[in-house]
Amino acid sequence: MTHVRKKISVIGAGFVGSTCAHWLAAKELGDVVLLDVNEGAAQGKALDLYEASPVELFDARVTGTKDYKDTAGSDVVIITAGIPRKPGMSRDDLLATNSKIMKEVCEGIKKFAPESIVIVVSNPLDAMAFVAKQVTGFPRERVIGMAGVLDTARFKTFVSEAVNVSVKDIHAIVLGGHGDTMVPMPRHCSVGGVPLQEMLPKEKIDQIVQRTRQGGAEIVNLLKTGSAFYSPSASAVQMAEAILKDQKRILPCAVELQGEYDVKNLFVGVLCKLGGKGMEEVIQLKLNAEEKAGLDNSIKAVEELVSALKKIQY
Ligand code: LAC
Repeated sequence: MTHVRKKISVIGAGFVGSTCAHWLAAKELGDVVLLDVNEGAAQGKALDLYEASPVELFDARVTGTKDYKDTAGSDVVIITAGIPRKPGMSRDDLLATNSKIMKEVCEGIKKFAPESIVIVVSNPLDAMAFVAKQVTGFPRERVIGMAGVLDTARFKTFVSEAVNVSVKDIHAIVLGGHGDTMVPMPRHCSVGGVPLQEMLPKEKIDQIVQRTRQGGAEIVNLLKTGSAFYSPSASAVQMAEAILKDQKRILPCAVELQGEYDVKNLFVGVLCKLGGKGMEEVIQLKLNAEEKAGLDNSIKAVEELVSALKKIQY
């Protein structure tokens, strides 16, 4: 019998990876394989989560491993492997270490799960997505970086709090790289369909934009020993769900641009449609001068990151 239930592999059993496994299983999106070089951590967390299933009543098999053979047949692979940043570090400081880890991971995926759709979560995100695409050789539709959903989630959280309206009624977009230059788009934000700019004064919106840009660092500074994991993992799982259920959702993701916004061969956060084939369409926005300048600045930062990456022997 061919397998009917979907299969999702999560690479890296740290906070982000194990929390991804938790959301995936709880939402019954499929069977979950948790892989880590530290086999004990992957197996222990997987078994523990699996044993929660009769309590929470989810039907999902959860297994842990360090062997890429066990990822065979995965519909989606979520890569979280790598070290997180500490206070005072930028995401870019992780480049050398995480590019080596990413290469090893992607070689395993290429060999054992060549048909999978890959969601990259490791930092520095835009560079790690670039490495994943180079190493797997997958088409751009099947290598998608998670950042925009997270950055947008932070933006929406702060807007929801400021206007005292349900998060369910907030729509927002954040474009660009996953770094300090990211471009939250207030003009495209609405509260129940009403433009944000009619709901909040400019100074408050500017504050929210700034807090969004620093959202990752805010958590790192509080935690001191690692970075955010609840919202990054929830964001990756929302993308996985859109793919696994062919939802055709419109979400901001890091994808390799092939001429959109006049950029080629670079991963940049843009609005796209996620469905059963992965990244099914890039939706280009008509930007005003300020937004275009912001996006160009962010693209420049990603270019610099990728040229630093090219000097590393990963
Ligand atoms: C963040 C890290 C995970 O934005 O990039 O929290």
